[in-house]
Amino acid sequence: MRNTRTQVAIVGAGPSGLLLGQLLFKAGIDAIIVERQSGDYVLSRIRAGVLEQVTMDLLDEAGVGQRMHQEGLVHGGFDLLFNGARHRINVNALTGGKNVMVYGQTEVTRDLMLAREQAGLPTVYEAEKVQIHDFDSAKPRVSYEKNGQLHTIECDFIAGCDGFHGVCRASVPKGAIKEFEKVYPFGWLGVLSDTPPVHHELIYANSTRGFALCSQRSAIRSRYYLQVPLSDKVEQWSDEAFWAELRHRLDPEAREHLVTGPSIEKSIAPLRSFVTEPMRFGRMFLAGDAAHIVPPTGAKGLNLAATDVKYLSSAFIAYYHDKTESGIDRYSERCLRRIWRASRFSWWFTSLMHHFPENGDIGQKFQDAELDYLVHSQAGSQNIAENYVGLPLNFGE
Ligand code: APR
Ligand code: PHB
Repeated sequence: MRNTRTQVAIVGAGPSGLLLGQLLFKAGIDAIIVERQSGDYVLSRIRAGVLEQVTMDLLDEAGVGQRMHQEGLVHGGFDLLFNGARHRINVNALTGGKNVMVYGQTEVTRDLMLAREQAGLPTVYEAEKVQIHDFDSAKPRVSYEKNGQLHTIECDFIAGCDGFHGVCRASVPKGAIKEFEKVYPFGWLGVLSDTPPVHHELIYANSTRGFALCSQRSAIRSRYYLQVPLSDKVEQWSDEAFWAELRHRLDPEAREHLVTGPSIEKSIAPLRSFVTEPMRFGRMFLAGDAAHIVPPTGAKGLNLAATDVKYLSSAFIAYYHDKTESGIDRYSERCLRRIWRASRFSWWFTSLMHHFPENGDIGQKFQDAELDYLVHSQAGSQNIAENYVGLPLNFGE
């Protein structure tokens, strides 16, 4: 058996764990990351790609914002398509000059991984049988196996950054945790293709055939999504069928401009709203997807993970540098307030844009009327714009 000691043991090397590791490193706090997959596997996951200003600032603070500023696409608005016509939400004008950055989460992860590697910081990939122990005591531990050898990390704190299916949340006694969940009756079929995007900004489409989203990764790489029944299998969807269905859901101009090509990735993801309360259990803290999942319609997943990590790193920094536990004590409450707001927005935007056959024709009419109100009312447009770009870190405090 091999024993190591660190200040913070981080479980999971997704964006949450890697960003936390980087922010702690900048503050001179030791951390070891334990990840069950390989680095290549972590980088093969394709997820949303819209960063709020708060997230851009954090990546800069972590010293990994350089490529994002060079290659990311700054968007000052997006289109809502309904009833066959498109309407722009001028996010920049409606929020006093704020924008979002379109930069894939895979690239954020790659930049964080590289920075960690360059700084020579310890990450254990392909760690098996990861377990967390005694987090309700002053001496928590993380154990894992690697190449048949058992390893133990003694630490002051454990950061559970191990995603929705991770071991940290699952290790909390059932009576100590409350989970809130809503599963939506459809999924998103996503296609990545090396084709120029249909439009220079994103198009969120409400169609009687179901929701569609036109997104992008660069001037030559597009990302598109279609709402599909949960029973659909990705093998049922040829590229031709995908493009044909996307065309049906777009307006005439977009239909005409759509450039199609072979898919380089195609997958179906279920949609879920999920929140865990609390997020702290003694000396173990959940952050990111380990504690909450939002449906991707508002692109809030990565942004929420980033703000959890901001609060958590600040709490650890205050603990080690200022000898105060106040950040640690407030962590769960601060995070949850922000999480519930973003969950509410993601649920609302999902409900507004997707087709719910069970709501009948009147459901569609209510959606059309709400969208018509939103795009023509200053108050309505401002509501969606300020939530989309993200509320400030200290909102309501
Ligand atoms: N032991 C070690 N690592 C684990 C374990 C385990 N038992 N279980 C899961 N992991 C790893 C996963 O392999 C993954 O690399 O934890 C990592 C969690 O990463 P993510 O799922 O990407 O979660 P997070 O870092 O919180 O990122 C949140 O990801 O899903 C999106 O929309 C979401 O953008 C948000 C972001
Ligand atoms: C994406 O580009 O993958 C994306 C963009 C916006 C969303 C969801 C996903 O709301």
